Amino acid sequence: MKEFKPFRPLSAPMSVAVLLSGLSAGPFSAVSQAQVAAGAAQLQKTEGPAKAHHPWDDTSLSPDERADLVLKQMTLDEKILLVHGQGWGVLRPGDPVAPGSNFAAGYVAGIERLGIPGVNEADSAVGARMAAYQARYATLLPSTLGAASSWDPQGAQLYGDVIGRELRAWGSNMSIGGGVDLMREPRNGRNFEYAGEDPLLAGTMTGNLMKGLQAEHIMGDIKHYAFNDQETGRTAVSANIDHKAARESDLLAFQIAIDIAKPSGVMCGYNRFEGTYDCENDYLLNQVLKKDFGFKGFVLSDWSATHSTVKAALAGLDQEEPEDIYFGEALKKAVEDKQVPLSRLDDMDHRILRSMFAAGVVDYPVMPRSVVDPFQGRDDAQHIAEESIVLLKNKGGILPLDPARVHSIAIIGSHADKGILSGGGSAQVDAPGGNVTDPHTGGANWGETVWFPSSPLRYIREHDTGAKVEYNSGDDTAAAAALAKSSDVAIVFVNQPMYEGHDAKTLNLPDNQDALVSAVAAANPYTIVIAETGGPIAMPWADQVDGIFEAWFPGIGGGEAIANLLFGTVNPSAKLPASFAKRDADLPHPEIAGIDLKEQTNIVETNLGGHRMRHNDPRLPFFDVNYTEGAKVGYKWFESQHIEPLFWFGYGLSYTTYSYSDLKVSPDGSEVTLTVKNTGERAGVEIAEVYAKLPKAAGEDYKRLIAFDRVPLTPGEEKTITLKVDPKLLSVFNTEKSDFELVPGEYTVLAGPSSNHTPLKASFSYSK
Ligand code: BGC
Repeated sequence: MKEFKPFRPLSAPMSVAVLLSGLSAGPFSAVSQAQVAAGAAQLQKTEGPAKAHHPWDDTSLSPDERADLVLKQMTLDEKILLVHGQGWGVLRPGDPVAPGSNFAAGYVAGIERLGIPGVNEADSAVGARMAAYQARYATLLPSTLGAASSWDPQGAQLYGDVIGRELRAWGSNMSIGGGVDLMREPRNGRNFEYAGEDPLLAGTMTGNLMKGLQAEHIMGDIKHYAFNDQETGRTAVSANIDHKAARESDLLAFQIAIDIAKPSGVMCGYNRFEGTYDCENDYLLNQVLKKDFGFKGFVLSDWSATHSTVKAALAGLDQEEPEDIYFGEALKKAVEDKQVPLSRLDDMDHRILRSMFAAGVVDYPVMPRSVVDPFQGRDDAQHIAEESIVLLKNKGGILPLDPARVHSIAIIGSHADKGILSGGGSAQVDAPGGNVTDPHTGGANWGETVWFPSSPLRYIREHDTGAKVEYNSGDDTAAAAALAKSSDVAIVFVNQPMYEGHDAKTLNLPDNQDALVSAVAAANPYTIVIAETGGPIAMPWADQVDGIFEAWFPGIGGGEAIANLLFGTVNPSAKLPASFAKRDADLPHPEIAGIDLKEQTNIVETNLGGHRMRHNDPRLPFFDVNYTEGAKVGYKWFESQHIEPLFWFGYGLSYTTYSYSDLKVSPDGSEVTLTVKNTGERAGVEIAEVYAKLPKAAGEDYKRLIAFDRVPLTPGEEKTITLKVDPKLLSVFNTEKSDFELVPGEYTVLAGPSSNHTPLKASFSYSK
């Protein structure tokens, strides 16, 4: 755990956040107040008298031994208690909040007599959710996709640490963030919660994020397992792909993340895989996750993604969330009737208990609560943002802005005067000072566009270069163009709001923003675009502008990070974690599967305070998305199809230049060395990328990322780096043996600054 830091003096006050629509400022509903009171009373109660000593308190025992000791003492009812949540609680207005719940998304009751605490499973993909409900503060980090652009595993650990310490401060002991679904669908509304299109990069970044979080003794999670790669019809779609390709792509990202983080939980997704729901899919859960990956933690369902008792239990689901429709009384009966062996229920409980001991939530209780440090959170978020924002174009060296030449700057669009955009859905963090549009939670309505008070305009002005800096909203294209015309440089902010449960229909920006950029660029040849987007977008105006930054959803330090990058206070180092197609037609699926289907009646059962209820939760009819492109995701697709994307995976510019030399590979391919030199005049960090082309026998018409490193270099400095290569990345998956294996023949190893620019080449051979 982090050492306690005394507070620092307050810096400038934060400006207000704005919610763009619906300014209803309602108080908490009567039900909510009662819920809060009930929960608070219970929290006090659970702090009660000193704990009894139990044999499993012995920390010299392994988590498995400790779990077994507890299990021996548990009654059947207690065993059932741990394998389901206590209801929707605060997530659904009117539902009761279980005593002990800390108002997180899910609550699993503890067993007081055995000293097993309840588990508050908190949504926290990009920062803790539901802070407004408790009038608390939570740091908004850059989107995880943004953070993946840093290619910085240490930065990812810091990211997890911020979330872990804030969850700890508010009394939640489990994060249910950790999204690592591969970006097969660049228009997926949740890409901002994931880590891009490459299994190595995505798995490494998400794994390290969860590792950092768990270092705070908070239980971690990886989700949404698996192939939950689009939001359109997410509860109806069946993702279909052959198993070899599955293991070399999406499942490999999960495997890498799970290997690194050893998370407590893996959340199974809403979708179906090969016609069977993820949460009752024997292949995904038992065979791949538990057997092949050796995952020791527990599988929890996404919220209402459990669809059966016996089938799900036997397929490997360990915990139903957030209710007990299938894993409450129904599971108890199934165990009594021997439809589900008691040993399987014991296995579920063992997995849950051993994860609690392994993470340390029993030994380091999260109560009592403390106050989040918003200043440290903001600094960390800014640091991550500065590593995450990708410089994509810098024609004529327009950037960094030169105060000697730039005397007037037009800032246009995207509420850049007020703040930066955040992502929505269950990843929504509540904006400090934000207006209340959902009176139940005290935050914003689901899917509403929420801006955070980190104003790029303010921080650009604070650089105080002597330039006149003026703002135009961009609502009136002619007025925006006029301001651009009268300024030395025009900076247009564009945005793509994204949220859970919804995909973008196209890669093109919404709200006529493409036309705004073109109009500004026509008025001023020195135009720079800053994109705040959930994922890749098409940029039909890319040739018309001189500068482009992809800022993603940059978090609470985003405004300052953007200003620092514009002026060169910080040298850009980020590189794309996903390719940007020129147009939808260039994607493996030019249209999102199911996008035109219409919703139909879908009766679901819920358990409201012990009362079973049936209600209609409309969804699309069942349909398929067939991933015939197999493992060719992102750059692998573009390379194999000979389609030039707008920007390739791994691409990103800097204000200095680098050269690459001396690539060597060990005879077995397990180690690569190369030299990177800073050939420019500024200090910087270069992300060196190493790829491999497998021997012909593999039949692959694309290369794979096999290693990468961030190399900090002062001007003129050169460094030789040595990188380890995981043999899985050089292997194909043999479905008969259910294992990865190397391919006989010659491997080509390539290295350089981007997936489309690998000037160095070496080779090694493998024979059986
Ligand atoms: C999301 C999960 C989330 C859960 C609880 C679901 O809608 O898919 O990612 O953790 O809700 O809020």
